[in-house]
Amino acid sequence: MPHVLCHNTGTAAIQAALWAVGVRRGDEVISQSMTYWGSSLQVFSLGATVVFSEMDPNTLTLDPSDIEHRITERTKAIVPVHYCGHPTDMDPIMEIAERHGVKVVEDVSHAQGALYKGRLVGTIGHVGAMSIMSGKSLACGEGGFLVTGDQEIYERAVAWGHYSRTGKLENPDLKPLAGMPLGGYKYRMHQLSSAVGRVQLKGYRERMTVIQDAMNHFWDRLEGTPGLRAHRPLVASGDTMGGWYAAHGLYRPEELDGLPVSRYCEAVNAEITSGFSVRGGANPLMHLHAVLNEADIYGDGKPTRIAFADRDLRQPQGSLPVTESLPERCFSIPWFKHYRPEQIDQYAEAFRKVAENAEQLQ
Ligand SMILES: Cc1ncc(COP(=O)(O)O)c(C=O)c1O
Repeated sequence: MPHVLCHNTGTAAIQAALWAVGVRRGDEVISQSMTYWGSSLQVFSLGATVVFSEMDPNTLTLDPSDIEHRITERTKAIVPVHYCGHPTDMDPIMEIAERHGVKVVEDVSHAQGALYKGRLVGTIGHVGAMSIMSGKSLACGEGGFLVTGDQEIYERAVAWGHYSRTGKLENPDLKPLAGMPLGGYKYRMHQLSSAVGRVQLKGYRERMTVIQDAMNHFWDRLEGTPGLRAHRPLVASGDTMGGWYAAHGLYRPEELDGLPVSRYCEAVNAEITSGFSVRGGANPLMHLHAVLNEADIYGDGKPTRIAFADRDLRQPQGSLPVTESLPERCFSIPWFKHYRPEQIDQYAEAFRKVAENAEQLQ
Protein backbone atom coordinates (compact mmCIF):
# COMPACT_ATOMS: atom_id res chain seq x y z
CA MET A 1 0.00 0.00 0.00
CA PRO A 2 1.36 3.46 -0.81
CA HIS A 3 0.52 4.96 2.58
CA VAL A 4 1.02 3.51 6.05
CA LEU A 5 0.69 5.45 9.29
CA CYS A 6 1.64 3.88 12.61
CA HIS A 7 -0.30 4.74 15.77
CA ASN A 8 0.12 4.12 19.47
CA THR A 9 -2.98 1.86 19.54
CA GLY A 10 -5.40 0.25 17.13
CA THR A 11 -8.17 2.31 18.75
CA ALA A 12 -6.31 5.48 17.74
CA ALA A 13 -5.69 4.22 14.19
CA ILE A 14 -9.39 3.47 13.71
CA GLN A 15 -10.48 6.81 15.19
CA ALA A 16 -8.03 8.66 12.92
CA ALA A 17 -9.27 6.67 9.93
CA LEU A 18 -12.90 7.50 10.71
CA TRP A 19 -12.16 11.21 10.99
CA ALA A 20 -10.00 11.06 7.88
CA VAL A 21 -12.83 9.58 5.79
CA GLY A 22 -15.14 12.37 6.93
CA VAL A 23 -17.06 11.17 10.01
CA ARG A 24 -18.28 14.28 11.83
CA ARG A 25 -20.88 15.37 14.41
CA GLY A 26 -24.28 13.78 13.86
CA ASP A 27 -22.98 11.19 11.40
CA GLU A 28 -23.59 7.46 11.55
CA VAL A 29 -21.20 4.56 11.19
CA ILE A 30 -22.33 0.98 10.57
CA SER A 31 -20.48 -1.91 12.20
CA GLN A 32 -21.04 -5.21 13.97
CA SER A 33 -22.05 -5.58 17.59
CA MET A 34 -20.05 -8.65 18.56
CA THR A 35 -16.51 -7.30 18.48
CA TYR A 36 -14.03 -5.57 20.74
CA TRP A 37 -15.36 -2.07 21.48
CA GLY A 38 -12.34 -0.50 19.74
CA SER A 39 -13.92 -1.27 16.35
CA SER A 40 -16.37 1.62 16.62
CA LEU A 41 -16.80 3.17 20.07
CA GLN A 42 -14.42 5.98 19.04
CA VAL A 43 -17.26 7.51 16.99
CA PHE A 44 -18.59 9.15 20.17
CA SER A 45 -15.44 11.28 20.41
CA LEU A 46 -16.22 12.55 16.89
CA GLY A 47 -19.78 13.48 17.85
CA ALA A 48 -21.00 10.63 15.66
CA THR A 49 -22.82 7.43 16.52
CA VAL A 50 -22.91 3.78 15.58
CA VAL A 51 -25.67 1.64 14.09
CA PHE A 52 -25.17 -2.10 14.32
CA SER A 53 -25.92 -4.36 11.41
CA GLU A 54 -26.55 -8.11 11.59
CA MET A 55 -23.72 -10.59 11.46
CA ASP A 56 -23.35 -13.70 9.37
CA PRO A 57 -23.63 -16.64 11.80
CA ASN A 58 -21.04 -18.67 9.90
CA THR A 59 -18.32 -16.09 9.37
CA LEU A 60 -19.06 -13.95 12.50
CA THR A 61 -18.53 -10.90 10.30
CA LEU A 62 -20.93 -8.29 8.85
CA ASP A 63 -23.77 -9.76 6.83
CA PRO A 64 -23.71 -7.67 3.61
CA SER A 65 -27.42 -8.33 3.00
CA ASP A 66 -28.42 -6.49 6.19
CA ILE A 67 -26.48 -3.27 5.63
CA GLU A 68 -28.23 -1.29 2.92
CA HIS A 69 -31.56 -0.69 4.71
CA ARG A 70 -29.64 0.84 7.62
CA ILE A 71 -27.94 3.49 5.47
CA THR A 72 -29.33 7.00 5.91
CA GLU A 73 -28.14 10.34 4.58
CA ARG A 74 -26.07 10.61 7.75
CA THR A 75 -24.17 7.35 7.19
CA LYS A 76 -20.52 8.15 6.43
CA ALA A 77 -18.69 4.89 6.97
CA ILE A 78 -18.98 1.14 7.32
CA VAL A 79 -16.52 -0.69 9.57
CA PRO A 80 -16.31 -4.39 8.66
CA VAL A 81 -14.38 -6.37 11.27
CA HIS A 82 -12.51 -9.44 10.05
CA TYR A 83 -13.54 -11.03 13.29
CA CYS A 84 -11.48 -13.77 14.95
CA GLY A 85 -9.36 -13.93 11.80
CA HIS A 86 -12.20 -14.55 9.33
CA PRO A 87 -12.30 -12.30 6.23
CA THR A 88 -15.53 -10.35 5.73
CA ASP A 89 -17.35 -10.72 2.43
CA MET A 90 -16.00 -7.42 1.11
CA ASP A 91 -17.18 -7.27 -2.52
CA PRO A 92 -20.88 -6.65 -1.78
CA ILE A 93 -19.95 -4.22 1.00
CA MET A 94 -17.74 -2.20 -1.35
CA GLU A 95 -20.48 -2.23 -3.95
CA ILE A 96 -23.05 -0.89 -1.44
CA ALA A 97 -20.56 1.69 -0.18
CA GLU A 98 -19.76 2.97 -3.67
CA ARG A 99 -23.45 3.23 -4.53
CA HIS A 100 -24.17 5.33 -1.44
CA GLY A 101 -20.96 7.35 -1.34
CA VAL A 102 -19.98 5.81 1.98
CA LYS A 103 -16.38 5.02 2.98
CA VAL A 104 -15.20 1.63 4.23
CA VAL A 105 -12.74 1.36 7.13
CA GLU A 106 -11.68 -2.26 7.57
CA ASP A 107 -10.83 -3.33 11.12
CA VAL A 108 -8.00 -5.81 10.58
CA SER A 109 -7.01 -6.22 14.24
CA HIS A 110 -7.80 -9.95 14.25
CA ALA A 111 -6.73 -10.90 10.77
CA GLN A 112 -3.38 -9.53 9.63
CA GLY A 113 -2.38 -11.46 6.53
CA ALA A 114 -5.79 -13.00 5.81
CA LEU A 115 -6.79 -13.17 2.15
CA TYR A 116 -10.17 -12.32 0.63
CA LYS A 117 -10.39 -13.49 -2.99
CA GLY A 118 -6.62 -13.33 -3.17
CA ARG A 119 -6.39 -9.80 -1.72
CA LEU A 120 -4.98 -8.95 1.70
CA VAL A 121 -7.68 -7.77 4.05
CA GLY A 122 -7.11 -4.12 4.91
CA THR A 123 -6.23 -3.26 1.30
CA ILE A 124 -9.79 -3.55 -0.03
CA GLY A 125 -11.65 -0.74 1.74
CA HIS A 126 -10.75 2.94 1.60
CA VAL A 127 -8.63 2.42 4.72
CA GLY A 128 -7.48 -0.62 6.67
CA ALA A 129 -6.79 0.04 10.34
CA MET A 130 -5.72 -2.33 13.06
CA SER A 131 -4.30 -3.11 16.44
CA ILE A 132 -0.94 -4.84 16.66
CA MET A 133 -0.83 -4.91 20.45
CA SER A 134 0.90 -7.76 22.23
CA GLY A 135 -1.29 -10.81 21.98
CA LYS A 136 -2.37 -10.10 18.41
CA SER A 137 -1.00 -12.45 15.75
CA LEU A 138 1.19 -9.60 14.46
CA ALA A 139 2.32 -7.93 17.67
CA CYS A 140 4.60 -5.04 18.55
CA GLY A 141 3.86 -4.38 22.22
CA GLU A 142 1.23 -1.64 22.18
CA GLY A 143 0.41 -0.14 18.80
CA GLY A 144 -1.61 -0.03 15.63
CA PHE A 145 -1.49 1.30 12.10
CA LEU A 146 -3.58 2.22 9.13
CA VAL A 147 -2.97 1.62 5.44
CA THR A 148 -4.60 3.39 2.52
CA GLY A 149 -4.21 3.97 -1.18
CA ASP A 150 -5.75 7.42 -0.85
CA GLN A 151 -3.28 10.22 -0.21
CA GLU A 152 -6.06 12.57 0.92
CA ILE A 153 -7.13 10.13 3.65
CA TYR A 154 -3.52 9.54 4.67
CA GLU A 155 -2.78 13.25 4.98
CA ARG A 156 -5.91 13.84 7.04
CA ALA A 157 -4.93 11.02 9.40
CA VAL A 158 -1.50 12.61 9.75
CA ALA A 159 -3.06 15.99 10.50
CA TRP A 160 -5.36 14.45 13.12
CA GLY A 161 -2.75 13.04 15.49
CA HIS A 162 0.76 13.33 14.05
CA TYR A 163 1.65 16.96 14.45
CA SER A 164 5.37 16.46 13.88
CA ARG A 165 4.80 15.35 10.30
CA THR A 166 2.26 17.92 9.23
CA GLY A 167 4.92 20.15 7.65
CA LYS A 168 5.32 17.58 4.89
CA LEU A 169 1.66 17.50 3.85
CA GLU A 170 0.70 18.53 0.31
CA ASN A 171 -2.99 19.26 0.90
CA PRO A 172 -3.28 23.09 0.73
CA ASP A 173 -6.09 23.04 3.35
CA LEU A 174 -3.91 21.20 5.85
CA LYS A 175 -0.55 22.84 5.19
CA PRO A 176 -1.25 26.11 7.02
CA LEU A 177 -2.41 24.16 10.06
CA ALA A 178 0.92 22.34 10.44
CA GLY A 179 2.48 22.07 13.86
CA MET A 180 -0.57 21.15 15.90
CA PRO A 181 -2.74 18.04 15.66
CA LEU A 182 -6.30 18.80 14.59
CA GLY A 183 -7.65 16.10 16.88
CA GLY A 184 -5.72 17.39 19.86
CA TYR A 185 -4.22 13.92 20.13
CA LYS A 186 -0.66 12.65 20.02
CA TYR A 187 -0.94 9.31 18.30
CA ARG A 188 2.51 8.35 17.10
CA MET A 189 3.75 4.87 17.88
CA HIS A 190 6.23 4.35 20.68
CA GLN A 191 9.73 3.96 19.23
CA LEU A 192 10.35 0.62 20.93
CA SER A 193 7.06 -0.79 19.66
CA SER A 194 8.01 0.38 16.20
CA ALA A 195 11.37 -1.39 16.42
CA VAL A 196 9.75 -4.59 17.71
CA GLY A 197 7.06 -4.40 15.01
CA ARG A 198 9.59 -4.11 12.18
CA VAL A 199 11.30 -7.29 13.33
CA GLN A 200 7.98 -9.10 13.84
CA LEU A 201 6.90 -8.18 10.34
CA LYS A 202 9.95 -9.85 8.78
CA GLY A 203 9.04 -13.30 10.08
CA TYR A 204 5.27 -12.91 10.00
CA ARG A 205 4.46 -14.77 6.80
CA GLU A 206 6.42 -17.84 7.92
CA ARG A 207 4.80 -17.82 11.36
CA MET A 208 1.40 -17.38 9.81
CA THR A 209 1.94 -20.44 7.64
CA VAL A 210 2.73 -22.55 10.70
CA ILE A 211 -0.38 -21.25 12.50
CA GLN A 212 -2.49 -22.00 9.42
CA ASP A 213 -1.19 -25.58 9.29
CA ALA A 214 -1.75 -26.11 13.01
CA MET A 215 -5.25 -24.63 13.15
CA ASN A 216 -6.37 -26.35 9.98
CA HIS A 217 -5.09 -29.65 11.37
CA PHE A 218 -7.24 -29.12 14.48
CA TRP A 219 -10.38 -28.47 12.42
CA ASP A 220 -9.66 -31.24 9.93
CA ARG A 221 -9.58 -33.61 12.90
CA LEU A 222 -13.01 -32.44 14.02
CA GLU A 223 -14.65 -32.59 10.60
CA GLY A 224 -18.05 -34.28 10.89
CA THR A 225 -18.33 -33.93 14.68
CA PRO A 226 -21.96 -33.23 15.61
CA GLY A 227 -22.62 -29.74 16.95
CA LEU A 228 -19.24 -28.35 15.92
CA ARG A 229 -18.27 -26.39 12.82
CA ALA A 230 -14.96 -24.84 11.88
CA HIS A 231 -14.85 -21.05 11.79
CA ARG A 232 -12.82 -20.75 8.61
CA PRO A 233 -13.53 -20.08 4.93
CA LEU A 234 -14.18 -22.98 2.58
CA VAL A 235 -10.97 -24.13 0.89
CA ALA A 236 -12.62 -23.70 -2.51
CA SER A 237 -13.16 -19.97 -1.86
CA GLY A 238 -9.40 -19.35 -1.80
CA ASP A 239 -9.91 -17.13 1.27
CA THR A 240 -7.71 -17.67 4.31
CA MET A 241 -7.69 -16.84 8.01
CA GLY A 242 -4.35 -15.05 8.42
CA GLY A 243 -3.05 -15.45 11.96
CA TRP A 244 -6.24 -16.87 13.57
CA TYR A 245 -6.27 -14.32 16.42
CA ALA A 246 -8.92 -15.12 19.07
CA ALA A 247 -9.68 -18.40 17.33
CA HIS A 248 -13.26 -19.61 17.79
CA GLY A 249 -15.43 -22.50 16.73
CA LEU A 250 -19.09 -22.48 15.73
CA TYR A 251 -21.51 -24.34 17.99
CA ARG A 252 -24.77 -25.85 16.81
CA PRO A 253 -26.69 -26.87 19.97
CA GLU A 254 -29.65 -28.18 17.94
CA GLU A 255 -27.42 -31.09 16.92
CA LEU A 256 -26.64 -31.86 20.58
CA ASP A 257 -30.15 -31.93 22.03
CA GLY A 258 -29.88 -28.25 22.91
CA LEU A 259 -26.87 -28.65 25.22
CA PRO A 260 -25.92 -25.08 26.29
CA VAL A 261 -22.51 -23.98 25.06
CA SER A 262 -21.42 -23.17 28.63
CA ARG A 263 -22.09 -26.77 29.68
CA TYR A 264 -20.28 -28.06 26.60
CA CYS A 265 -17.22 -25.92 27.39
CA GLU A 266 -17.27 -26.92 31.05
CA ALA A 267 -17.06 -30.57 30.04
CA VAL A 268 -14.30 -29.89 27.48
CA ASN A 269 -12.31 -28.08 30.16
CA ALA A 270 -12.63 -31.10 32.42
CA GLU A 271 -11.03 -33.18 29.64
CA ILE A 272 -8.15 -30.78 29.09
CA THR A 273 -5.49 -31.14 31.74
CA SER A 274 -3.01 -28.55 30.43
CA GLY A 275 -4.68 -25.69 32.28
CA PHE A 276 -5.96 -24.12 29.08
CA SER A 277 -9.68 -23.45 29.17
CA VAL A 278 -12.34 -22.66 26.60
CA ARG A 279 -15.57 -20.78 27.01
CA GLY A 280 -18.80 -20.07 25.20
CA GLY A 281 -19.47 -16.86 23.27
CA ALA A 282 -16.99 -14.17 22.30
CA ASN A 283 -16.91 -10.39 22.92
CA PRO A 284 -19.98 -9.02 24.76
CA LEU A 285 -22.54 -7.53 22.38
CA MET A 286 -22.00 -3.79 22.08
CA HIS A 287 -25.60 -2.87 21.25
CA LEU A 288 -26.83 -4.15 24.62
CA HIS A 289 -24.13 -2.46 26.72
CA ALA A 290 -24.92 0.46 29.03
CA VAL A 291 -22.25 2.66 27.38
CA LEU A 292 -24.19 2.40 24.12
CA ASN A 293 -27.58 2.90 25.71
CA GLU A 294 -27.40 5.02 28.84
CA ALA A 295 -24.07 6.76 29.31
CA ASP A 296 -24.12 10.53 28.89
CA ILE A 297 -20.39 10.87 28.45
CA TYR A 298 -20.15 14.51 27.40
CA GLY A 299 -22.96 15.99 29.50
CA ASP A 300 -25.47 16.50 26.70
CA GLY A 301 -28.42 15.64 28.89
CA LYS A 302 -29.06 12.46 26.94
CA PRO A 303 -27.18 9.27 26.11
CA THR A 304 -24.15 10.00 23.96
CA ARG A 305 -25.29 7.38 21.44
CA ILE A 306 -28.20 9.65 20.49
CA ALA A 307 -26.84 13.05 21.56
CA PHE A 308 -26.44 14.29 17.97
CA ALA A 309 -28.68 11.77 16.21
CA ASP A 310 -31.90 12.72 14.42
CA ARG A 311 -33.81 9.80 16.01
CA ASP A 312 -33.47 7.27 18.82
CA LEU A 313 -31.37 4.73 17.01
CA ARG A 314 -30.55 2.61 20.04
CA GLN A 315 -31.07 -1.09 19.42
CA PRO A 316 -32.75 -2.91 22.33
CA GLN A 317 -32.72 -6.63 23.06
CA GLY A 318 -34.48 -8.43 20.23
CA SER A 319 -33.48 -5.91 17.56
CA LEU A 320 -30.61 -8.02 16.18
CA PRO A 321 -31.81 -11.63 16.54
CA VAL A 322 -29.00 -13.28 14.58
CA THR A 323 -26.28 -11.39 16.44
CA GLU A 324 -28.02 -12.03 19.75
CA SER A 325 -28.02 -15.77 19.08
CA LEU A 326 -24.23 -15.82 18.59
CA PRO A 327 -23.07 -15.95 22.24
CA GLU A 328 -24.79 -19.36 22.39
CA ARG A 329 -23.44 -20.41 19.01
CA CYS A 330 -19.68 -20.03 19.27
CA PHE A 331 -16.88 -20.90 21.67
CA SER A 332 -13.19 -20.22 22.04
CA ILE A 333 -10.63 -22.81 20.98
CA PRO A 334 -6.90 -23.12 21.62
CA TRP A 335 -4.67 -20.96 19.42
CA PHE A 336 -1.97 -23.33 18.17
CA LYS A 337 1.14 -21.47 17.08
CA HIS A 338 3.28 -24.55 16.48
CA TYR A 339 2.50 -27.43 14.17
CA ARG A 340 2.63 -30.31 16.63
CA PRO A 341 0.01 -32.76 15.36
CA GLU A 342 0.16 -35.21 18.30
CA GLN A 343 -0.57 -32.47 20.82
CA ILE A 344 -3.21 -30.86 18.66
CA ASP A 345 -4.90 -34.24 18.27
CA GLN A 346 -5.22 -34.56 22.04
CA TYR A 347 -7.12 -31.26 22.22
CA ALA A 348 -9.28 -32.16 19.24
CA GLU A 349 -10.10 -35.47 20.91
CA ALA A 350 -11.42 -33.63 23.99
CA PHE A 351 -13.76 -31.51 21.85
CA ARG A 352 -14.94 -34.54 19.91
CA LYS A 353 -15.45 -36.77 22.96
CA VAL A 354 -17.70 -34.27 24.68
CA ALA A 355 -19.75 -33.60 21.55
CA GLU A 356 -20.23 -37.29 20.85
CA ASN A 357 -21.36 -37.91 24.44
CA ALA A 358 -23.49 -34.82 24.80
CA GLU A 359 -26.58 -36.78 25.88
CA GLN A 360 -24.80 -37.77 29.10
CA LEU A 361 -24.46 -34.12 30.05
CA GLN A 362 -28.14 -33.26 29.84
C1 LIG B 1 -11.37 -5.99 16.71
C2 LIG B 1 -10.53 -4.97 17.41
N1 LIG B 1 -10.61 -3.69 17.02
C3 LIG B 1 -9.88 -2.72 17.60
C4 LIG B 1 -9.04 -2.99 18.64
C5 LIG B 1 -8.34 -1.86 19.31
O1 LIG B 1 -6.98 -1.98 19.30
P1 LIG B 1 -6.04 -1.51 20.54
O2 LIG B 1 -6.33 -2.40 21.69
O3 LIG B 1 -4.67 -1.66 19.99
O4 LIG B 1 -6.40 -0.09 20.81
C6 LIG B 1 -8.90 -4.33 19.07
C7 LIG B 1 -8.00 -4.71 20.14
O5 LIG B 1 -7.55 -4.90 20.98
C8 LIG B 1 -9.68 -5.34 18.46
O6 LIG B 1 -9.61 -6.61 18.87
